[in-house]
Amino acid sequence: MKKIHQPSWIGDEVEIGEGTRIQAFAFIPNGVTIGKDVFIGPHVCFTNDPNLICKGKDYWKKTLVEKGAKIGANSSILAGITIGENATIGMGSVVLKDVPANEVWGGNPAKFLKRKGKWAIIGLGFISGRHIKSIYEIGDELILTCDNDPSKGATFLDWREMMKDERWKEITHIAVCAPNYLHFEMCKAMEDKIVLCEKPLALSSGDVKKLNARYEELKR
Ligand SMILES: CC(C)(COP(=O)(O)OP(=O)(O)OC[C@H]1O[C@@H](n2cnc3c(N)ncnc32)[C@H](O)[C@@H]1OP(=O)(O)O)[C@@H](O)C(=O)NCCC(=O)NCCS
Repeated sequence: MKKIHQPSWIGDEVEIGEGTRIQAFAFIPNGVTIGKDVFIGPHVCFTNDPNLICKGKDYWKKTLVEKGAKIGANSSILAGITIGENATIGMGSVVLKDVPANEVWGGNPAKFLKRKGKWAIIGLGFISGRHIKSIYEIGDELILTCDNDPSKGATFLDWREMMKDERWKEITHIAVCAPNYLHFEMCKAMEDKIVLCEKPLALSSGDVKKLNARYEELKR
């Protein structure tokens, strides 16, 4: 299903993939192709002719928005651009260059802001549902999960096994939702990643001191 809020102006030859949502006041002329599960914010303006005054169909350039891309409100996209799979364009951007997959770009002219986070979650208890929702809301990706209870359906039962997986290398962020007594050990083992702990990171002042010392060492 596609959801197109009105008023929007969409050319009769524009292809729009399934699951795509287009907010009100979008301008999408012929020459633009939009893939599946794309989000187009309100007042997004595509162009099909890079010349200021339209010279006609012969001068049009094709624009492509690939699967899963998101375009923030009030952005303008120059004709001939490709916005890659799962890329995000911040609101109010003026996009003049191709945007690679999985990158976040923004500004005028739009520039690289960051690469999307790839997450692992350790502990699939009650609170993990909120983490998963937030990961998708900010446009990041959940790659690995771990829980020692097999009924939770995680990709791994043991977090140390998870760290041996080929995909571990690409993980940038970890949400630790495991019992408190494991936090210190886990965070120490994952010091090359961004680790978010939902509860205390250390249970004793001794561990806090060790963590601070390690932090100072890593800064150097
Ligand atoms: C791009 C966006 C998704 C980034 O959100 P985020 O992941 O929370 O990122 P942050 O707010 O931490 O910003 C990261 C950096 O990008 C910059 N940035 C964020 N949005 C930007 C934008 N639209 N244009 C230019 N720079 C932007 C921030 O200033 C920050 O820079 P800094 O590291 O130098 O301080 C968000 O800012 C945005 O534009 N959302 C679109 C909202 C929208 O249009 N919704 C439509 C539905 S109504």
